[in-house]
Amino acid sequence: MAKIRAAITGVQGYVPDYVLTNQELETMVDTNDEWIQSRTGIVERRILKGENQGTSVIGAEAVKGLLEKTGTDPLEIDMIICATVTPDMPFPATANIVADMVGAKNSFGYDLSAACSGFLYGLATGASFIESGAAKKVIVIGADKMSSIIDYTDRTTCIIFGDGGGAVLLEPTEEEVGIMDSILKSDGSGAPYLHMKAGGSRKPATPETVAAREHYAYQEGSTVFKFAVTNMADVAAEVMDRNNLTGDDIAWLVPHQANKRIIDATARRMDVGDDKVMLNIQRYGNTTAGTLPLCLWDYESQLKKGDNIILAAFGGGFTWGATWLKWAYDPK
Ligand code: UT7
Repeated sequence: MAKIRAAITGVQGYVPDYVLTNQELETMVDTNDEWIQSRTGIVERRILKGENQGTSVIGAEAVKGLLEKTGTDPLEIDMIICATVTPDMPFPATANIVADMVGAKNSFGYDLSAACSGFLYGLATGASFIESGAAKKVIVIGADKMSSIIDYTDRTTCIIFGDGGGAVLLEPTEEEVGIMDSILKSDGSGAPYLHMKAGGSRKPATPETVAAREHYAYQEGSTVFKFAVTNMADVAAEVMDRNNLTGDDIAWLVPHQANKRIIDATARRMDVGDDKVMLNIQRYGNTTAGTLPLCLWDYESQLKKGDNIILAAFGGGFTWGATWLKWAYDPK
């Protein structure tokens, strides 16, 4: 019997309308456009404004577009995985809220917390359900409303992050396409360098935690940078080596969009030219779990069936990983 693989059969992104430019950030904190662009590559990012607008809004908009473009009835969806660190609420899962918003009444689902690597973890999880035969149509969302946990008085974090995300549809295939291999890693000793101090069971919200600004993302940027540069490049090289792939075999590198300098280092290590590297950090900044599906969405019209694509990410946890996939369809 032919091996069943999980293929991405559609991708859709969503970013909110509001554009937060480097120039506007200059009016909020002591920073400047030149520093932000040269140190990160970011020019602008999107912000989800308005009352009661959670990550589910981003996820549901992406899923609605995905269902429409793939001609999929929401009742056919078996499972929804939502990778996010900014769920609408601690519970219920944002995946459940999205399922309700899009009418996916026959699906089950859950959230997955792996920060910037969340989409890769979600892809591997969704693929396992497809490969085992337990599910036929799985949606994997990577989405974050980072503005809900960013301190806009902290210039070291507020310039990097933005809101947005995307969703892919996974379906079984017997062809030589789809998710071919993944290497996923984590190291909890990295927690001190990138985390949110309060609001969890260890330190529930109190007036003191609010006053101490402990409900915002905390990052020791230069330490995270060092780990990100090494680990993202290493794991991307590892997944290529173990599948006998060289830079020449790769059509596209899809790197997590955290910092242009980390992206460049990963591409160099993989021996992949700039023209093969998906890049949209200049427009969206770092949307955490959202960056990888947003890249696939932006570049979808350039992808051809059989293209070898390496996705790579590094983020809070620490978590990191790389996935080799063969694109499953030509531009429509
Ligand atoms: O996505 C999840 C994982 N996250 C990442 O991968 C992010 C990894 N880290 C980074 O991308 C970078 O570390 C940052 C972009 C966060 C910071 O860049 P950096 O080159 O590592 O800067 P730094 O923290 O070493 O700071 C260098 C200088 C400092 O000034 P002094 O001490 O040298 O005088 C900072 O105070 O830059 C200063 N600085 C700023 N200046 C203007 C820090 N932030 C800013 C700013 N504007 N926004």
